[in-house]
Amino acid sequence: MPVSQPVWDLILAVHAFDWSDRVEQVFRLADSGITVRRGGSWVADAALCEADRDLLDALLPLAACRGRLAIAQLGQSLDGRIATETGDSWYINGQEARTHLHRLRALVDAVLVGAGTAAQDRPRLTVRHATGSDPVPVILDPRGRVEPGGPLFEGRRHAPPTLHLVGEGVRLPRPPSGVERIFVSSSGGEVAPQEVLDRLAERGLERVLVEGGGVTVSRFVAADSLDRLHLLIAPLLIGSGRPGLTLPPIERLSDARRPPIRSFRLADELLVDVCFR
Ligand SMILES: NC(=O)c1ccc[n+]([C@@H]2O[C@H](COP(=O)([O-])OP(=O)(O)OC[C@H]3O[C@@H](n4cnc5c(N)ncnc54)[C@H](OP(=O)(O)O)[C@@H]3O)[C@@H](O)[C@H]2O)c1
Repeated sequence: MPVSQPVWDLILAVHAFDWSDRVEQVFRLADSGITVRRGGSWVADAALCEADRDLLDALLPLAACRGRLAIAQLGQSLDGRIATETGDSWYINGQEARTHLHRLRALVDAVLVGAGTAAQDRPRLTVRHATGSDPVPVILDPRGRVEPGGPLFEGRRHAPPTLHLVGEGVRLPRPPSGVERIFVSSSGGEVAPQEVLDRLAERGLERVLVEGGGVTVSRFVAADSLDRLHLLIAPLLIGSGRPGLTLPPIERLSDARRPPIRSFRLADELLVDVCFR
């Protein structure tokens, strides 16, 4: 699925389209028309190359849906690691998978990372490897342990404000300008993922990308709070380090969840789209 700007432009147009009273709409792609149905199925009136078809298949279900959406991503090795033991994760994935991640960011209202990722990576969470708007960055930091430094805390005058979610009762100095602190209820240090999504939805942030790390995404999966999970599997073996998904143990395979998946090639990597709903 190499970068295909006209198809990506079409996906952004589908994303911006008001689907409230429409079931389908024709969008232009060069000289041809693509009929997109609400929900993401599509049909083209001219032949498309495999890469363009894959891009539409992978992303239109996200772009052509309205209402709430919770999607997570993990870039992982063949042995299911998202970073080394020291936390080095730059980069597990190659350029195409990174572009895919930035496209996911452009299709949501908010992008959320856990305290571990915010503290270790000090990410920017902006859309740089694709065209599109930056989502609102959110840090889930119930113990309030993330140091207020780095791009999510500093110099945000021209960027969407960072939402810093901390547990009720946590006392911290005032956040810098451009950072808004939101208190969330927690029980034994655990915040219910659904409460996080509800609090964001109250602010109009209905479409959320849970970008990592493994602990945070795992809690959303365990709570059954995700619609989809995009696993970006890269051909490397790390052998140890931070795990991707870690869920509560089950005794019998018959208790395992078996969500439907779709898969797409991203250069020499694999995108596995896990459809929970
Ligand atoms: N490859 C990738 O796609 C990817 C993506 C993102 C990050 N990473 C890498 O992953 C590593 C960090 O991942 P990680 O799994 O160790 O940590 P993480 O998921 O970023 O953060 C986990 C922490 O966030 C807080 N947290 C998250 N959900 C919570 C909930 N429901 N209730 C209460 N607290 C919650 C807790 O903070 P406390 O610990 O304070 O209790 C928890 O320990 C870094 O090395 C980063 O580079 C890789």
